[in-house]
Amino acid sequence: MIKKVITLLILFMASLQATQTQVIILLGPPGAGKGSQAALIKDKMEIAHISTGDLLRENIKQGTDLGAKAKSYMDAGQLVPDNLIFDMLFARVEKPDCQKGYILDGFPRNIAQAETLQKRLTDTHQVTAISLDIPDSAIVDRITKRQICKSCQTPYHLVHSAPTVAGICDKCGGTLYQRSDDTKEVVEERLKVYHDQTAPLIDFYRKQNALHSVDSSAPKEAVLEQVLTILEPVQK
Ligand code: AP5
Repeated sequence: MIKKVITLLILFMASLQATQTQVIILLGPPGAGKGSQAALIKDKMEIAHISTGDLLRENIKQGTDLGAKAKSYMDAGQLVPDNLIFDMLFARVEKPDCQKGYILDGFPRNIAQAETLQKRLTDTHQVTAISLDIPDSAIVDRITKRQICKSCQTPYHLVHSAPTVAGICDKCGGTLYQRSDDTKEVVEERLKVYHDQTAPLIDFYRKQNALHSVDSSAPKEAVLEQVLTILEPVQK
């Protein structure tokens, strides 16, 4: 009898796990390494990486209405209005590659976005928020020396993780470029916006017992190790 109950319990736990969707939220100021870590986590866990910044830049590149509306906010280092973000994001999470789980890089960005996300999640979603902690003093160097691949969005740093051939992506051979909002002036504004509007999310997720913090000033591989230590027990 006990054996039967245990077997049923194991089957029940396994079915629960199979239907759970991991939602990993990466919080952190511009240049904290959200995009870099998301790409590494995606490879390790085989779940989708959704960057609202990349989605917006793709809209600008394609010349959509959304892109035209978003561009002036992005160039000024301000947040794009929530109503423009929601449809774009929620359409993306409906895609089949998000069924097992997804990493949110750059969303939510304020309390209203976090509350809207929360309303859409159900008991089958398991939320883990990871704050990538780094002092402001390290940010300008990271951002102004960053280059990104036009094709696969892999970020490089001209000192810490330079491409093997200057201007060419090691991963896909794409051309590297510098984002138009990666100037010292705009980064300082983005940092201000982060502290005013995004940093309060750290408390928001702490109150839900969903928050973990890592030291993101360490080298990328060491940051990933800390992140995986948090995520591995969540996956089991
Ligand atoms: P977004 O694209 O999200 O930019 P961001 O949050 O400012 O963050 P970044 O992409 O600049 O940095 P990151 O943390 O990903 O760092 P990365 O890994 O590249 O947003 C841009 C704009 O879009 C916003 O200003 C806003 O206008 C709009 N927007 C986006 N989402 C929105 C939303 N939800 N609502 C409203 N508006 C929205 O690393 C940076 C550099 O450091 C790289 O060179 C990298 O190689 C290097 N690096 C990374 N980790 C390390 C390490 N451990 N050691 C040494 N170097 C490292």
